[in-house]
Amino acid sequence: MKTFNLCFLGFGNVGHALVRLLGEKSAEMREEYGIEWRITGMATRRAGWIASAEGLASESLLSAEFAAGSSSSQSRIGVSPPTNVREWLEAARCDVMFEITSLEPLTGQPAVEHVRAALESGAHVVTANKGTIVHAYRELRALALSRGRHFLFDATVADMPVFSLFRECLPAVRLQAFRGIFNSTTGVILEEMERGRTFADGVRRAQTLGVTETDPAYDVDGWDAAVKTCALANVLMDAPLSLDEIEREGIRGLDAEDVRAARAAGRPYKLVSRAERTAEGRIAARVGAEQIAADDPLAAAGGTSLVINFELDILPGLTLTAHHPDLRSTAYGLLSDFINAVRAET
Ligand SMILES: NC(=O)c1ccc[n+]([C@@H]2O[C@H](COP(=O)([O-])OP(=O)(O)OC[C@H]3O[C@@H](n4cnc5c(N)ncnc54)[C@H](OP(=O)(O)O)[C@@H]3O)[C@@H](O)[C@H]2O)c1
Repeated sequence: MKTFNLCFLGFGNVGHALVRLLGEKSAEMREEYGIEWRITGMATRRAGWIASAEGLASESLLSAEFAAGSSSSQSRIGVSPPTNVREWLEAARCDVMFEITSLEPLTGQPAVEHVRAALESGAHVVTANKGTIVHAYRELRALALSRGRHFLFDATVADMPVFSLFRECLPAVRLQAFRGIFNSTTGVILEEMERGRTFADGVRRAQTLGVTETDPAYDVDGWDAAVKTCALANVLMDAPLSLDEIEREGIRGLDAEDVRAARAAGRPYKLVSRAERTAEGRIAARVGAEQIAADDPLAAAGGTSLVINFELDILPGLTLTAHHPDLRSTAYGLLSDFINAVRAET
């Protein structure tokens, strides 16, 4: 049995769901894998760098008072004074850092620097933040390998274990192309519009479900889907594709009448991501609204559901669907990466 010190960099919707899930799965982790854990670090823009090597109480972190950023709640859970990520990791004696700050699609910062600092400090890193994969996947993978640490990111794309599936179960396949619906927010907005509600109603409903990016413009303008497309291509096709090489169009330009008519005709609009190897060996990638026929493998995705169809040299069509994933699904991606990162150490 070993106790791991966990640090959360970012503590919004996903962080809260992860703390709850860790509590819920404690017995399984202890009994099946010999893993105990305690939270020794917590950092957000408003709360600052909070560390306590003895452990912070989950209940205090989940309290409304902490969420409101009250300094009295923070002093009660034990504030020590780190002023930057490296001091914080050291004060918290971090074994595993969860990087779950907001996506910054254009540079991936400061998340890339957070991950670099954690790997250099000797911690494993588990992230839900796609920016790290898009902007620094090769560098961070090499750094993790050189330190004998894990850098895992199954929670970044589509709420299904895509990266571990390829890593563990599909050795020596060549991915030729993929298509998918990777963004829940646009799925919810389009369905609300099909029901006669407004675009703004759809955004509000997606925010209520907790599935939007911190700034929902990243969803509706296709940034989130483009970043996921880029992450998948970078890792699974081993292609150094950059975000600006992806043709990107969101759903703002869709007319509500057209959206309703497309649904009535049985070919509803979805925000579709696609990437394929060209004859010249490049990756051509695009994100945009497309009408999907009922017999298309992507038709399975409604509302918040997500789907990916892979074309592999061996398996011509492999489709994965996450039916109505929620924050627990994202949290589970982080939890399973945590277990996989440390299971050999117990
Ligand atoms: N929500 C989902 O369904 C979902 C699914 C898969 C992946 N993800 C990814 O998971 C990550 C977190 O999502 P979320 O829904 O939990 O976001 P969120 O609710 O908006 O929370 C973001 C958290 O990150 C903190 N933060 C942002 N920038 C920071 C910085 N520079 N330094 C320190 N803390 C910072 C925020 O602190 P303040 O509040 O103090 O600003 C907040 O605690 C994102 O990268 C997102 O793309 C989310």
